[in-house]
Amino acid sequence: MIDILNSIKTDSISKINGIDSLHELDQLKSFLLGKKSPLMDVLKDIPNIPVDERPVVGKQANQLKQDLTNKINEKREELINKERDIFLNQDTTDVTLPTTGLPNGSYHPITIVTRRVCSILNRYGYAIKQGPNIETDFNNFEALNIAENHPARDMHDTFYLKNKSVLRTHTSPVQIRTMLTQEPPIKMIAPGKVYRCDADVSHSPVFHQVEGLYVDKHVSFADLKGTLESFLRELFGNDHDIRFRSSYFPFTEPSVEVDVSYTINGKTTWLEIMGAGMVQRNVFRQVSYNPDEYTGFAFGLGIERIAMILYEIDNIRLFYENDKRFLTQF
Ligand code: PHE
Repeated sequence: MIDILNSIKTDSISKINGIDSLHELDQLKSFLLGKKSPLMDVLKDIPNIPVDERPVVGKQANQLKQDLTNKINEKREELINKERDIFLNQDTTDVTLPTTGLPNGSYHPITIVTRRVCSILNRYGYAIKQGPNIETDFNNFEALNIAENHPARDMHDTFYLKNKSVLRTHTSPVQIRTMLTQEPPIKMIAPGKVYRCDADVSHSPVFHQVEGLYVDKHVSFADLKGTLESFLRELFGNDHDIRFRSSYFPFTEPSVEVDVSYTINGKTTWLEIMGAGMVQRNVFRQVSYNPDEYTGFAFGLGIERIAMILYEIDNIRLFYENDKRFLTQF
């Protein structure tokens, strides 16, 4: 018995020494120590040998089992280290070298201008509201006095969705949402994306507006003009001229459009940046406000247009191409 154990030992140790992969080591381990291994056969055979030999053989067999287990674990350690060395030698990245530094991120010009607009108006007492990009026909058109076959619907190249929903064509539906849930006085602004099926150098199918609404007793056109003039002065400084031009919107009466002087490639022109006006009486009726008790003004301004003027940009598409050479200039 002892001889058998000795030969198992010599044989096993030389087998372990000859291994050079973790996978082979696992296989060898079950061959040497598993249920059907020669060593287990010896242990199982112990009850059949003379009683006085059993303790010696038993002790030696258990010792061998322990020794082989240790030897295999040592080998495993050695192989793991070896594989890691191979991996590290293949990878030529020196993680101890200093980095070349990452470029700083910056805000998108649309974000910068939206925040500037909102922070000025916020200071004038306007609370910020938001509405969904998918709107009902009622909020986007009907409640704003744009009836089903009103010619003004043509001014909005609308993306129609299922169930009479639309991608909102302006931020004005947020006026309706606010008036339906709040009583006057109301002073709100609503920044957000709007959608129109239209594209050229100054039009994009997705663009950004900030809506404004002020409703109270005795709000007049003078309030509208005073507020917008002072706001535009803060936004543009004294480098740009501003003009109010009479215009038409179904949801305001009277209505104006505001143009700002814009110098690009040495030429100065006017660029329209917003529509505004006194809230139409029918709009108040749609939200159950008494038009004899309340008046108000509303405005909707185009963020891209303002950014084009402030940063002297001649093509609206530059805002959406995500070209880093453009974006890092702000
Ligand atoms: N909603 C109008 C547009 O998108 C702008 C506007 C808003 C005009 C509020 C008057 C009052 O063109």
